[in-house]
Amino acid sequence: MRSTTGWRAHGQDSLSAATIPRRDLRPDDIAVRVDFCGVCHTDLHSLRGRSGDEPLVPGHEFTGVVSEVGADVTGFRVGDAVAVGNIVDSCGTCSMCLADQENFCREFPTLTYGGTDRHDGSTTLGGFSREYVVRDRFAHPLPAGLDPAGAAPLMCAGITVWEPLRALGVGPGMRVAVSGLGGLGHLAVKLAVALGAEVTVISRSADRAADAAELGAVDLLVSTDADQMAAARDRFDVLIDTIPVAHDLGPYLKLVAMDGTLSQVGFLGPVTVEALDLLVGRKKLSSAGSGGRASTAAMLEFCAAHGITADVEVLPSGQVNEALDRLARGDVRHRFVLDLADLS
Ligand SMILES: NC(=O)c1ccc[n+]([C@@H]2O[C@H](COP(=O)([O-])OP(=O)(O)OC[C@H]3O[C@@H](n4cnc5c(N)ncnc54)[C@H](OP(=O)(O)O)[C@@H]3O)[C@@H](O)[C@H]2O)c1
Ligand SMILES: [Zn+2]
Ligand SMILES: [Zn+2]
Repeated sequence: MRSTTGWRAHGQDSLSAATIPRRDLRPDDIAVRVDFCGVCHTDLHSLRGRSGDEPLVPGHEFTGVVSEVGADVTGFRVGDAVAVGNIVDSCGTCSMCLADQENFCREFPTLTYGGTDRHDGSTTLGGFSREYVVRDRFAHPLPAGLDPAGAAPLMCAGITVWEPLRALGVGPGMRVAVSGLGGLGHLAVKLAVALGAEVTVISRSADRAADAAELGAVDLLVSTDADQMAAARDRFDVLIDTIPVAHDLGPYLKLVAMDGTLSQVGFLGPVTVEALDLLVGRKKLSSAGSGGRASTAAMLEFCAAHGITADVEVLPSGQVNEALDRLARGDVRHRFVLDLADLS
């Protein structure tokens, strides 16, 4: 065993610096010096929703530099810039893995933190740390030209909205709405705009209108304004819903066009739907999460080609608790990224 320093949960409120274990490299592992790790709302759910004292080091969208390679690794060399997302292993042999959808592995993919390592059964500890050891197949070369801090959030927030946008055929001539202009939402807007769609933001606040326009959206609907919502009935071919809490889907389904789809990626608990909200217009309700290795690589290439990174506020990792508190209050534009250099 080796060790590094990471931000480990104490109770449900805060993280503090601690020495954490990392495994010795297996033949197909690489060690990564973590430079930048995004702060995802899932990190907040994981911390605040913690029931016991299970080990928790959050962080599942990071970039860094390869510091060591295992004996069988051929795809990476020490010094390579890499990006790692929210899954770090899968069985590799089930139908989902064979279809390049490791994120849906029938044996359940190993999550970057809070997962169970397939070999030694240990609980995985995340990227709010100075070093991560990962199976080479689940690290991606970071394309040249992508800023490493801005690219980190592509690895969870970005891929989570990229897969449904692609699977739903978003492109020129399509009208897309994105509800919730946070980490996932702002990347959904950037990606959908770059794919050629006409994009509208749905937000709780008209204050986000300038932000939405800057990101390339043509319009902003205020979700609490009944008149605006009524006027937008049946308007969108695809609606990507990133709202992080349980909410009534009815008003959002009414905005979806005939045969269109609402993809709910934000709140992953039980939902109640009026069948009539689907029946009228033959509408579809869907979801998505993370991405396979192939589509993650495609997303990174697309982002490099279109100059897309997240809009980030970079903080020294020592301010992680402040970042989490501000994220809980919605005080972020549009993603916090921790700079882990202060753990050296
Ligand atoms: N499917 C997956 O695999 C996956 C992956 C990553 C994250 N997630 C989940 O996706 C959700 C969003 O994550 P994120 O990191 O983008 O969060 P975030 O940065 O906090 O953004 C969420 C946005 O939703 C809106 N919002 C927040 N609280 C709300 C409330 N109470 N009611 C209505 N709208 C609200 C806000 O936008 P406005 O101010 O514009 O209204 C906020 O900016 C989280 O639940 C996270 O766990 C899922
Ligand atoms: Zn995430
Ligand atoms: Zn599998």
